Amino acid sequence: MCGIVGYVGPNSTIDVLLGGLKRLEYRGYDSAGIAVLTDGGELGTRKRAGKLGILAEDLTAAPLNDGHTGIGHTRWATHGGPTDGNAHPHLGDGGKLALIHNGIIENFAELKQELLDRGETFSSETDTEVAALLVGEVFRETGDLTQALRRVVARLEGAFTLLVMHQDRPGVVVGARRNSPLVIGLGEGENFLGSDVAAFVEHTKRAMEIGQDQIVTITPDGVEVTDFAGNEVPTREFEVAWDASAAEKGGWPSFMKKEISEEPEAVAKTLLGRVHDGRVTLPELAAIGELLDGVDRIVVIACGTAAYAGMLGKYALEAWARVPVDVELSHEFRYRDPVLSPTTLVVSVSQSGETMDTLMAVKYAKERGARTLSICNTQGSTIPRESDAVLYIHAGPEVAVASTKAFVAQVTALYLLGLDIAQRRGTMDADAVAAQVEELQNIPAKLDQVLESTATRIAEFAPWLGDTQSVLFLGRHVGYPVALEGALKLKEIAYIHAEGFAAGELKHGPIALIEPGQLVIVLVPSPRHDDSLHPKVVSNIQEIRARGARVIAIAEVGDVAVVPYADEVIRIPFAAPLFEPILGVVPLHIFAMELASAKGLDVDQPRNLAKSVTVE
Ligand code: F6R
Repeated sequence: MCGIVGYVGPNSTIDVLLGGLKRLEYRGYDSAGIAVLTDGGELGTRKRAGKLGILAEDLTAAPLNDGHTGIGHTRWATHGGPTDGNAHPHLGDGGKLALIHNGIIENFAELKQELLDRGETFSSETDTEVAALLVGEVFRETGDLTQALRRVVARLEGAFTLLVMHQDRPGVVVGARRNSPLVIGLGEGENFLGSDVAAFVEHTKRAMEIGQDQIVTITPDGVEVTDFAGNEVPTREFEVAWDASAAEKGGWPSFMKKEISEEPEAVAKTLLGRVHDGRVTLPELAAIGELLDGVDRIVVIACGTAAYAGMLGKYALEAWARVPVDVELSHEFRYRDPVLSPTTLVVSVSQSGETMDTLMAVKYAKERGARTLSICNTQGSTIPRESDAVLYIHAGPEVAVASTKAFVAQVTALYLLGLDIAQRRGTMDADAVAAQVEELQNIPAKLDQVLESTATRIAEFAPWLGDTQSVLFLGRHVGYPVALEGALKLKEIAYIHAEGFAAGELKHGPIALIEPGQLVIVLVPSPRHDDSLHPKVVSNIQEIRARGARVIAIAEVGDVAVVPYADEVIRIPFAAPLFEPILGVVPLHIFAMELASAKGLDVDQPRNLAKSVTVE
């Protein structure tokens, strides 16, 4: 939530800031603003409520003088509504200092009162302005921007990334972070700061992590990182694994459509280099290898779509590795005194690696003696840093707020983990592992088939459903998390009321919701699976049809049993039971996107949301 970019260097600062903000806009789009130290030595700022485009148009209509030092911000509002006045940057030291912030300063009311008592005046309702005024006061006293920020962060409670610049310090931007993201981009004669590497990847792929409670000062020729006490700290450089073009729309009408089309590739990339000769090899897990050999319980913590991926992981991990698995929403987990021990593995699943609820749950698990593994997409993000080991999904940047390709890649990573533990513990023989590995390796090609055969069909009928007020999703076994995911996507981007249910639960209450015309989407397991689920789901469909429901079935190619009871059948190829949901979810992603598009909605930036939820 909130995107932050900072720049010092010879190029057009306004261009660098706007380019960086464009790539960070997924983090929040309530307002945008920049501050630039002009070549004339003046601090110029411009900020506007609404999406970045409004600020960009404003800057075209009335250009701001450019310079070589600047900071930029895109906001997801917390304290104070999305207005021009509440947009960042905020000013201190009589307008000579500019500051931007991501996070929440929890003790701002008390600090504000203190500043008011000293005669300072406020021009916004934000918590951020107290930091701008406080840093300004200390800078006036010391003339040292890094020291001023250090003194102020010592007084702040809550989570924050702050970037600050001052008119009297050209070529200097100082940043500080506590439980909010910040990464350094290392250039030649120029340096960058960003909420994530997307902010600067078009200029440099060399990046450096900054730890919690650290302060960074960038100049065109140098980067200095210290802890909050002022001691130098070790840093870690890394190379960004993807090109700037990966975060471009590249001719697609939306990032969501592009990212759905990348679902096959996302699975393939997660598997790349990790499966050989029917075996799984995960060298990244060496640090927790001993625990994995004897692990007696796994707790998966995640939020939203990542939690549904975790639910699917439970089916596979328990079936293959024979380890009990609990899946918990991160924000519930740490407030209920969970039982953890040194033989518990806590697996966090997070695309962004920055979700505050999940980060706090990871820290909590560590404090309670559990070992932690992060399944993550974003290099240089906080959750992997805080974990004992990390399994990157390598899905490439996911820009649309609604998570799609990360979901299938997260499921794939959890399945790899399940097979790895099964190999270690000998709960599956080599042939059984090889059979599952083969299934996994076949998924990208099958996903290509799903996209090819369903995208056009769904695009044709989805607009006819534009007036739909409510949609129910049903699934059994691994179809259940997919039903939840389908419902979440529809709520999130099409603003249509939707609920996902375990089909077996229907008769325990939800069937009362069925009235003539109610749209129900059902995940139908293959009749060829060696279980009795297919006829049960077909019976569930008959029960709701008898009560007037309109049914869309997601069913295997050749499953004729569903035809008499469905208004529409979307076909997916055969896959073994645990792999079917990776195929079945794609039509639901497409369905939500097409319905939202038919309603004229912005599928990439749905209202009230931000991609990376860095506040609790
Ligand atoms: C839904 C969605 C969210 C995220 C959730 C966790 O489409 O994107 O529910 O899955 O906010 O985010 P990460 O994976 O970044 O921790």
